[in-house]
Amino acid sequence: MAEFPTECWYIAAESHALKQQPLARQVAGQHLVLFRDNQGQAAALFDRCPHRNVQLSRGKVRQGCIECPYHGFRFQADGTCSHVPSLQSHEKIPAALRAQAIPIREQQGYLWVWIGARAPEPHEQPFVLPHHEDPAWGHGYLQSTIGNSVANLIENFIDCPHTGYIHGGLFRSPASHLARTHVQAVADGVIIDIDEDNKTNSFLGRLIVPKGSKVTHQDRYIYPSTVQVAYGFGPKRQVTGYQICTPITAERTQVYVYVTWKLGLLNPVVAPLVQIFGKIILDQDVAILENQGEMIRAYGEMFSSVPADTANLWIQATRQRLQRGETPPERDKKVDFRL
Ligand code: FES
Ligand SMILES: [Fe+2]
Repeated sequence: MAEFPTECWYIAAESHALKQQPLARQVAGQHLVLFRDNQGQAAALFDRCPHRNVQLSRGKVRQGCIECPYHGFRFQADGTCSHVPSLQSHEKIPAALRAQAIPIREQQGYLWVWIGARAPEPHEQPFVLPHHEDPAWGHGYLQSTIGNSVANLIENFIDCPHTGYIHGGLFRSPASHLARTHVQAVADGVIIDIDEDNKTNSFLGRLIVPKGSKVTHQDRYIYPSTVQVAYGFGPKRQVTGYQICTPITAERTQVYVYVTWKLGLLNPVVAPLVQIFGKIILDQDVAILENQGEMIRAYGEMFSSVPADTANLWIQATRQRLQRGETPPERDKKVDFRL
């Protein structure tokens, strides 16, 4: 089996990162160069000059084309070679001299690239971030590079029992209460409903949850590499986080975090808090995932699981099935654990 799901869209960069000059990115092991043409449209090419194979990303953008740093050949967004400085005026650019273009979409603050042997079908579109255009919802972006696999990142993002330890005091305390979960494997992923008798004695809990409100919590894995974590605080307040993973290589992953919230009058206050606490929480996960990645690289991956790991085991099974082009079985199970 290939190392990663392919025939899918992955985020290559946040939109604002792509300015005047080219951007080198590795996505699912592929070296890509991103740049903007004269109209500001994003373009992606395989980052290897068809002339003598150096990286185009080391060159410059000139007149909306990427110019190779070695002999100055220029390539348009679709890979067409538009200029070869060494040619005389009566000579033509060889038709076979083309760079390989990669499908790219700029959407909701992200640059998505298509990684696959075939072109995307019209129904195959990048993941649409819910509520992004709704003024009642605020939103914020974070990202990080982590020396571990997409699979282990996904596990961390849906995993509740680590929160009291890795993020202790911030939104849970260790094994303090019972969580009843309902795990459902569906066509494109796994949904986990978590019902906890949470006393919200954490800092963030006290800040956001109206007194006496019921907290709802649902996590969802969406193929190939997105985790959605949705909290509801009473009938009107919601916070949802998306962790969207891009494999750089099998052992290195870029995670793009998008947080969106509907908290009424608190909305503008929450924006800086998401940046501050989002970064603290993400850095705590990064540190433990880096350490896990290091030990796995040293000794291989040998896991033992307990009932609280059920959702993750289902996610990995679903992901592998979908990666092989198979339909995962729909099933569901109730799992209780201490949280
Ligand atoms: S290697 Fe790119 S122009 Fe020669
Ligand atoms: Fe975490």
